[in-house]
Amino acid sequence: MFLVTGATGSLGRRIVRQLREQETPVRAFVRLFSRYEELEHRGAEIFIGDLRQDRDIEKACQGVEYIISAHGSNGDPQALDYRANIALIDQAKANNVKHFVFISVLGVDRGYEDAPVFKAKREVEKYLVASGLNYTILRPSGFANNLLPLAERFRETGIYLLIGDPKNRSSIISTDDLAKIAIASVSVEGAKNQILPVGGPDVLKREDIPRIFSRLFNKEPIVINVPLFLFDGLRSAIGLFNPQTQRSLGTLRTLLANEFFCTPQEIAHLESIYNIKLESLESFLRRYLGG
Ligand SMILES: NC(=O)c1ccc[n+]([C@@H]2O[C@H](COP(=O)([O-])OP(=O)(O)OC[C@H]3O[C@@H](n4cnc5c(N)ncnc54)[C@H](OP(=O)(O)O)[C@@H]3O)[C@@H](O)[C@H]2O)c1
Repeated sequence: MFLVTGATGSLGRRIVRQLREQETPVRAFVRLFSRYEELEHRGAEIFIGDLRQDRDIEKACQGVEYIISAHGSNGDPQALDYRANIALIDQAKANNVKHFVFISVLGVDRGYEDAPVFKAKREVEKYLVASGLNYTILRPSGFANNLLPLAERFRETGIYLLIGDPKNRSSIISTDDLAKIAIASVSVEGAKNQILPVGGPDVLKREDIPRIFSRLFNKEPIVINVPLFLFDGLRSAIGLFNPQTQRSLGTLRTLLANEFFCTPQEIAHLESIYNIKLESLESFLRRYLGG
């Protein structure tokens, strides 16, 4: 039995789908008001709870062999990225869980002080490594599904909003590939007790993305490049009446201001460990949107 947290999220949903396609038993940790019907139809065991509640985490972990932590923080990294994961690791130990897969983030070890999600994930990584559990820590770059709504908007308007430096590089990962990697991590020998950067096969500059959209939809792109200082100005203004939101925006600012890509060697290593051919962003978008 797998326990998947964040089971209604972009990644978690794909993990549950793929596990059920293999007819593997899976307990999906969901909130009462989330959209979990699809997971139930696929035969997942639905566990309704809230990751802010230790009692819920304790119950959800009973009788599971594998845990994949794939939840997000909903603007509260202290409670969700940090505390909920620490509680999951403690419960994994108490229940003799065979393997714990943690979805971290690429660049988590660079010491970004202004990025609460990165700080929380780094502390969880350390706690997991020291826990004595078998683990795999995956550090993905941006998920390809994030671009689906932007591509849809581009299809209608031809507009692409690019915030920050157009030359910044990333290696966007197919969210379906990441789900496959997360599941395989519990059984693939080369993934045991490893911290792995995870990205797609191509290093892309931000300015490449509207070009990909343009090829998909056969439309000339209108790129609106918003400089980072405008984002910073808006963030400071928000801080005047909502300091909490201003702090949370630090993670987004870090993502916008820096490069998050994997080297060709890291990608080759990943492909060889998991015996997988990683999908390009263009192919992912074509699969979902046609074109
Ligand atoms: N997206 C990216 O580009 C990216 C890149 C690198 C790493 N990551 C990491 O990958 C993981 C998955 O990301 P994602 O984009 O798939 O996340 P997502 O789509 O935002 O989903 C977040 C999930 O967490 C659940 N959740 C939030 N608060 C909860 C609570 N109090 N109790 C129970 N469940 C709760 C949400 O449930 P509801 O449906 O009820 O809201 C949802 O299922 C995250 O850890 C994220 O930090 C993401």
